[in-house]
Amino acid sequence: MKKMFILLGTIALFLMLSCNQQTQQNAVSLDTGWKFNTGDEPAWATLAFDDSKWDTIDPKKIWEEQGYKGYDGFAWYRLHVQIPSSLKENAFIKDSIQILLGKIDDCDQVFLNGELIGENGRTIFIKTEPSAEFIKEQGKWYIDRRYVLAANDPRIHWDQDNLIAIRSYDQRGAGGVFGKPFEISMTELKDHLKFDFSSAAFMFDGDSMITKKFTIQNLSGTEEFKGKLLINAVLGDNGINIYSECTGVDITPHLKLEKSVTFKHNISKPATLQVSFIESTSGKTITDVLEIPYILTPKVSMKPQINGAKVFGVRPWSPFQFKVAATGQPPLRYSASDLPEGLVINPENGIITGSLKKKGEYTIKLTVENRLGYAERDLKIIVGDIISLTPPMGWNSWNCWGLSVSDQKIRQSAEAMKSSGLIDHGWTYINIDDGWEDTHDKYGNILPNAKFPNMKALCGYVHSLGLKIGIYSSPGPKTCGGYEGSYTFEAKDAQNYANWGIDYLKYYWCSYENIAPKPTLEQMKDPYREMKHAIRKANRDIHYSLCQYGMGDVWTWGAEVDANSWRTTGDIEDTWESLSAIGFSQNPCSPYSAPGRWNDPDMLVVGWVGWGPALHYTRLTASEQYTHITLWSLLAAPLLIGCDLTQVDAFTLNLLTNDEVIAVNQDPLGKQAAQIKKTNDYEIWTRNLEDGSIAIGLFNKTDKPLYVPVSLKDLNISGKQAMRDLWTQTDLGKVSGHFEMKTQPHGARLIKISQ
Ligand code: GLA
Repeated sequence: MKKMFILLGTIALFLMLSCNQQTQQNAVSLDTGWKFNTGDEPAWATLAFDDSKWDTIDPKKIWEEQGYKGYDGFAWYRLHVQIPSSLKENAFIKDSIQILLGKIDDCDQVFLNGELIGENGRTIFIKTEPSAEFIKEQGKWYIDRRYVLAANDPRIHWDQDNLIAIRSYDQRGAGGVFGKPFEISMTELKDHLKFDFSSAAFMFDGDSMITKKFTIQNLSGTEEFKGKLLINAVLGDNGINIYSECTGVDITPHLKLEKSVTFKHNISKPATLQVSFIESTSGKTITDVLEIPYILTPKVSMKPQINGAKVFGVRPWSPFQFKVAATGQPPLRYSASDLPEGLVINPENGIITGSLKKKGEYTIKLTVENRLGYAERDLKIIVGDIISLTPPMGWNSWNCWGLSVSDQKIRQSAEAMKSSGLIDHGWTYINIDDGWEDTHDKYGNILPNAKFPNMKALCGYVHSLGLKIGIYSSPGPKTCGGYEGSYTFEAKDAQNYANWGIDYLKYYWCSYENIAPKPTLEQMKDPYREMKHAIRKANRDIHYSLCQYGMGDVWTWGAEVDANSWRTTGDIEDTWESLSAIGFSQNPCSPYSAPGRWNDPDMLVVGWVGWGPALHYTRLTASEQYTHITLWSLLAAPLLIGCDLTQVDAFTLNLLTNDEVIAVNQDPLGKQAAQIKKTNDYEIWTRNLEDGSIAIGLFNKTDKPLYVPVSLKDLNISGKQAMRDLWTQTDLGKVSGHFEMKTQPHGARLIKISQ
């Protein structure tokens, strides 16, 4: 039997190798020979224009790195190239060519022999007059520029001189063409047939059955592909096949073939699903390898357990609301001893409400009971100036619903936060992002749009579930989504938010750049100071979250404008590139983090995301998601789930409900992790915790399993240390000196050591 497994593994390997062999043949490289000029002239698109006096440029690097530092605006790239008809003759699929031009920051129009063939990543199929509008489509810098033309497109001059001209426009920051690849090639099997694994999450049935649905789609309207579909599930540890299937398939033009596999597998073990299509006449193969999510968080105990924050900040006289997060078999009964006067606890749902008038500190003892026993824990209440003494945990509408957010979606999300049990692990905020605003009325009151018929009722409903609610605005006249901002209405807006019952404000710079186009440091602070005063006057504890992508090193002055958190980077996406670039670049801000003053590397891209209204399952692998939550916990980052809570899948729920991992994020000392070691392959970050122990994150940046070595000397630690794996919640015994731990590709381990 074992031999059979090994044989199947070998076949899969052979097929994968034969897949790799077919790429890169029959391509014309566009890596060199480019000419470059700043400015904007229509004649620069034409073949005849003489560019011999232009500068040469390397298309793989942005123009700032090639002598054009600080340049913003239009610039053109030109390249003469022969397109040989041998490309067509040698090709397996002869009907289309593709021109690959790396990435372009921000906007582009691409011309072939004077005719427009592409704009901001979209092929222009028919003769179209170029317009100036394309520069309005900002934020497309990360999209691969791939323009596909029919082989008989008259814009191509086969076997002759061709001119590719790129008209690019950059508004600020990095500009122009960069990345890879740069080539002309015929489209291949992989360009026509696409596996799509993102339309369904992996499903678990008990601890040992896995089901995965996926599709294979023929994008071509003319080609039919016949062949075999080979599916293997392979254990990460030893390469042993745990499932294998081979079926004949006929994929007619435009067909989307749906496939589902179910197999037996221990869901705590890392493994991969390898799917190949082998075309029968040519033997050409496309393969995708997918990590099977593995479950690390143990099942919650039926006995009572108190989770979430151990310290809570509130200002004198502000409405007080704190929900005791606790797990255990229902019904649970909640009580609190030594509650200061002014507060009461609801014994059925554990919500503490009221208000406290005097500054001071109180330690209360919480008790949660069920028929199996009881749990006790201290909660420290600090009545003072600073709120959000642990990073906010909750959900925000942007990464799933984008501008299509509505009252109904917010209510459903709040209900799901409760019914999924997330609330019992400390998840609290339900934040409405952009897309709720209408206009200011004649009295200066901000009116929600028709999607939000009654904001006060909505806030009341969310509070009644034991949750809190947030909102979004801009200090400029308009938000990024083009909705009404708060400019000149700050005081009124804050007052309205407070009246409705808002607990969190995300305040994004967008369109304030029209007020202060090249802001000085003081001008960067001005609008945030303005809203700070407005919030303070509103007499409600509103978590104040700055969002301006880290401009002016906001972490050095966020506290000065009374912000409770500030975004340190641009928007995150559900890719490893985005996640790792943002997550591993947070070390410089680390010293500025403190209780109530958090660095915010953006929201969590797990589960069903999509920026609305259409959603897809996160493109991050399970290991990458473990890295995401591990790193964000070490970074003391606000944890704002970005997915559709109404369809949270088993893996995501398991990922977000690990109380020992969350406890690192919520640690009352509030000290952000520092990067202790960084190599090309791995990083080690450590965070000192209130009880004197140290949380250590080990991160594998490679795409292979890796043993990450840790030297306790690098952490300034000597002697024997007790070690605990926080994801699996198991003790690992004592260590001293050195140790190493296996990490999955792009994955992480989170351990805690204490004496
Ligand atoms: C900015 C923020 C996003 C989101 C959008 C809404 O881009 O960074 O997180 O809030 O605004 O328009």
